[in-house]
Amino acid sequence: MPHQGKKRELKEEDKLQEDSEQEIDQQLFYGDDEIVQDKTITAGLISDAPKLPKNFEERQNWKRLIVILEACQLQITKNRRGDNELINCDDHQRTIKNMGKRYEDFRPDITHQCLLSLMDSPLNKAGKLQVIIRTNKNVMIEINPHMRVPRTYKRFAGLMTQCLTKFKIKAEGSQTVLMKVIKNTFDKVLPVGVRMIGTSSKAKLVDLQEYVDNLEEMDNDKPVAFIIGGVSVGNPAMEVEGISDAVCISNYGLSAACVCTKLCSAFEAAWDVL
Ligand SMILES: C[S@@+](CC[C@H](N)C(=O)[O-])C[C@H]1O[C@@H](n2cnc3c(N)ncnc32)[C@H](O)[C@@H]1O
Repeated sequence: MPHQGKKRELKEEDKLQEDSEQEIDQQLFYGDDEIVQDKTITAGLISDAPKLPKNFEERQNWKRLIVILEACQLQITKNRRGDNELINCDDHQRTIKNMGKRYEDFRPDITHQCLLSLMDSPLNKAGKLQVIIRTNKNVMIEINPHMRVPRTYKRFAGLMTQCLTKFKIKAEGSQTVLMKVIKNTFDKVLPVGVRMIGTSSKAKLVDLQEYVDNLEEMDNDKPVAFIIGGVSVGNPAMEVEGISDAVCISNYGLSAACVCTKLCSAFEAAWDVL
């Protein structure tokens, strides 16, 4: 029996060792400036902060491309230590299997790739982009154009988990809210009468630049919203209520991040953003 006690002691020691190694790994991975004592992950602000509207009226008339990332696969679970984590198909295969779900429905990395592409774009830096995420669980998140998206998936996942559990994320050492959960209705978030366009590989094929230039002629100075599925399979953007049109922008099925890049480039060309 004393032998068993010793075994248990050793196991616990191993676990403690593993925990502290992981903690050190995490410190090294995140860098000291981005992880504070309680493991809260924060994000910074982009250096070329865009000028944004100051009041409701300015916001209504703010000429911008609004990108809605639809059906993003952002769900949380608790890990063995009791901490919240974003479920992803690489690290949570057993959880997904136990839930009876498909691995391809757990790709939070797609949202990360899209956000990097959108928030780093010249269009965003020029103050002409607004990004909204809607998860497949109907949670809507507004992204502050000033947010510098974490470069690594692990940090992004930590930040997004915090946003989903605490409902808002503030910038490091500042009161600026970078991401917040908002009421899940488009009419509260989008300007009145905004044109909403879905993107889908199953819609009519258009030349995106011509399409955007045409929109500009019709709706000069008005904001416009494009919806992109934040998913690995399927075209949820085509099913969103209120869209006035749906377009396919390539002969090929593209990744959501590639569609984000192409959209930003088309609007940069139309609005002379270099
Ligand atoms: C990875 S795709 C989903 C896969 C989809 N079965 C496909 O082949 O397009 C994610 C999103 O990117 C957009 N997308 C992908 N290819 C597109 C295309 N050729 N034209 C317009 N949108 C596209 C859609 O909004 C889609 O929901």
